[in-house]
Amino acid sequence: MCGIVGYIGKRNAVPFLLQGLEKLEYRGYDSSGIAINSSKGIEVIKKQGRLGVVKNIVESKPDFCSSLGIGHTRWATHGSPSDLNSHPHVSSCGKIALVHNGIIENYIEIKKNLIEKGFDFKSDTDSEVIVQLISSLYKNDIFSAVKKAVKILEGSFALGIICKDNPNVLIAVNKDSPVIIGAGTNENFIASDIPALLSETRIICRLPEKQIALIKATDFELYDFDGRMTQKNFTTVNWEVNAAEKNGYDHFMLKEIMEQPEVIKATLSPRISGPNLKLDNAVFSKEYLKNLNKICIVACGSAYHVGCVAKYFMEKLLRKTVEVDLASEFRYRCPIIDKNTLVIVISQSGETADSIAALREAKLKGARILSIVNVIGSTIASESDDVLYTHAGPEIAVATTKAYSAQLIVIYILGLYLAKSTQKINDENLSLLVKKLQNLPYQIENTLKYKEEVFKLAKKYYKYEKVFFIGRNLDYAVCMEGSLKLKEISYVHSEAYAAGELKHGTISLVDENTLIIAIATQPELVDKMISNIRTVRARGAKILVITSSLYIDKFNQVSDDVISVPEVSPELSASLAIIPLQLISYQIAKLRGCDIDKPRNLAKSVTVE
Ligand code: G6P
Repeated sequence: MCGIVGYIGKRNAVPFLLQGLEKLEYRGYDSSGIAINSSKGIEVIKKQGRLGVVKNIVESKPDFCSSLGIGHTRWATHGSPSDLNSHPHVSSCGKIALVHNGIIENYIEIKKNLIEKGFDFKSDTDSEVIVQLISSLYKNDIFSAVKKAVKILEGSFALGIICKDNPNVLIAVNKDSPVIIGAGTNENFIASDIPALLSETRIICRLPEKQIALIKATDFELYDFDGRMTQKNFTTVNWEVNAAEKNGYDHFMLKEIMEQPEVIKATLSPRISGPNLKLDNAVFSKEYLKNLNKICIVACGSAYHVGCVAKYFMEKLLRKTVEVDLASEFRYRCPIIDKNTLVIVISQSGETADSIAALREAKLKGARILSIVNVIGSTIASESDDVLYTHAGPEIAVATTKAYSAQLIVIYILGLYLAKSTQKINDENLSLLVKKLQNLPYQIENTLKYKEEVFKLAKKYYKYEKVFFIGRNLDYAVCMEGSLKLKEISYVHSEAYAAGELKHGTISLVDENTLIIAIATQPELVDKMISNIRTVRARGAKILVITSSLYIDKFNQVSDDVISVPEVSPELSASLAIIPLQLISYQIAKLRGCDIDKPRNLAKSVTVE
């Protein structure tokens, strides 16, 4: 969950390294650094704090330039954020510099051996161990030293390496942590993620798992860990350059919230043809569906919350068991799955370590894996039997909004497709729901038009330190995402509670300093929600309700404020109810002076377990 970049070519590497790191800061931002191979040898500038600190130093040193360099933006795992623990790390001999993303599991053992051999360590990181290990194996051929080192290392590692004696070579390594090579003309780039490369090239090659790239200015070669040359596969990225820019918005998060109607159209339209649905290349035979025993959904964070919506949506529709698990918990409950289980992995990045581990576990047990992923060719996408891509474009704000919404859309399409294939929905109901789906982008657009009204409510409530989100059924699943949005960016403590469960203990926390955000879009649960709201109101809590336009009057009578969202089939209501929750969290965080796009302690892509 750190970001790495590298350049080799004819230009000065430094401007690309800095702007590439800026695009990757969402992956980690507690320190950053750059190393170049100049006429003076390996030169490093690295500092604790945001990239701006390093940028200022670099800009004050006009002779800090070279046509070969690597850079890093860090999210600390081993060793606190500090100048010394920042990357790049340099070997004791001063000849080799390295940036690392991932975790080295056997670093203590290796470090002990190296210390016994006289190596001196400056940092507390596992990453420094890698560069010292390579240096211990180095005999004037950096590639050969790296080849030997990767055989000793255990854990996950994406690496960028430069060596003083090899000014024409940049090395990249991937084991369980992504590295993308961007191909230019007489220059090549490496990065952890596509946005860093967009301003330079659209031709990319994802470094396959357990491979080493030997990169020169004019070309590059790939080798597996046994030293055998392997094939390069290129793809062309069609994301716009400005897709990774703010376009006049104060924050990426707001820009991404506002992009949702377009993103949903892009995710929906290739999958709808008249009244029928298409599932890209996924084929479910009659035989397969007949034997399908259950669906298991695994994901982390917001993607898990999409899974919670999916459970309610799919189970009701398909009359099949749908389980949803946090990916980090999945393996440890010895899940009962076999070849007749469909495992759905949901992940924006496609690189989340816990989700990858869950996927591999399910695969070992013979399950069929279908993933819902935003990043083309990512690890989860490439290890799945079927992939349904969300077309959300690059998402930069750490708190997800548009990717969450796009994932919901894919869930609806998949659920309806399976329902049709198993005759659980008739043509009339299907075409009705498909029409409602097609209308969602316009309804979201209308909901977004009330942004300023929602912002006014944020002003009224932003000082509350204790917030409960309550709802039932699908609304409860939306509460989980609403609560996560609020706490991750505004640092307000909030909890999502099933509205009916509150009375079983948690209500003791409710007093006049509590804000209750109630979501009530499910027709058969409106009256129950009204009773739950009355109960907390009687304890002095302030009540903000999000409901469908149909029930405004009912809720006006029991609450302080009501936000209404357009009327939609209850099954699809999550897509609308989440919009005011995203907006209110955004504005509360803004009013509280928080760093919205880069909240403290978080990273967008979590590539460690
Ligand atoms: C991190 C992010 C969350 C995200 C989760 C899963 O924790 O901060 O916003 O939902 O990872 O990420 P994924 O890329 O797998 O959807």
